[in-house]
Amino acid sequence: MDHVIAIDGPAGSGKSTVARAVADQLGWSFLDTGAMYRAITALALRTNVDVHDHDAMAALASGVVIETVPATVIDGIDVSDEIRSAPVNDAVSVVASQPLVRAAMVRRQQEWAKRQPRGTVVEGRDITTVVFPNAVVKVYLTASLEERSRRRVDEDVTSVSRRDQIDSNRPSSPLRQADDALYIDTTGRAIASVVEEIVTCLNQRS
Ligand code: DC
Repeated sequence: MDHVIAIDGPAGSGKSTVARAVADQLGWSFLDTGAMYRAITALALRTNVDVHDHDAMAALASGVVIETVPATVIDGIDVSDEIRSAPVNDAVSVVASQPLVRAAMVRRQQEWAKRQPRGTVVEGRDITTVVFPNAVVKVYLTASLEERSRRRVDEDVTSVSRRDQIDSNRPSSPLRQADDALYIDTTGRAIASVVEEIVTCLNQRS
């Protein structure tokens, strides 16, 4: 648990790219928790489970096996492409707002981190506030809405801002900046410089 770098932020803030690069530089594992919520959503859509039915979604979330590396695979089905589709973009915030689905995912994320031989870099919306509040480095990444939409080639500005609204205003673990998180606005910044800022922060603390 000591060896966790936790990164939160809205869609398109650069979390996945930065988290992956930090993990590569340190030789640590990387976990994209958004891909887990997306995988559950993709499976529900495939199997005609109503994404608004909290009990059905909770049952689905507690029983499945999800892998995110090297591909996103749920119950043996590779959904790596499907999780970036418009139907999943539209439904994932509804799924991620459900407390029982979140509890099942959070438990998996914490167990997964414990199993990693070195450290782990984890990114999502509640990682610094709920999942790993004691992470050695906590980061809140953001960027302007225009830049975030530009980075999301698969999603338009309306869809990104709609997801921002839902993720930030839901009662269960809304996206918010942890008090002690490093705030980084990535607008117009090179990935390498953001990565360096995070690694420097880690080195100062260890
Ligand atoms: O980071 P992303 O766009 O792939 O995330 C997909 C959705 O899942 C997004 O609407 C927010 C939600 N999510 C969440 O609620 N908690 C996380 N730890 C990760 C993602």
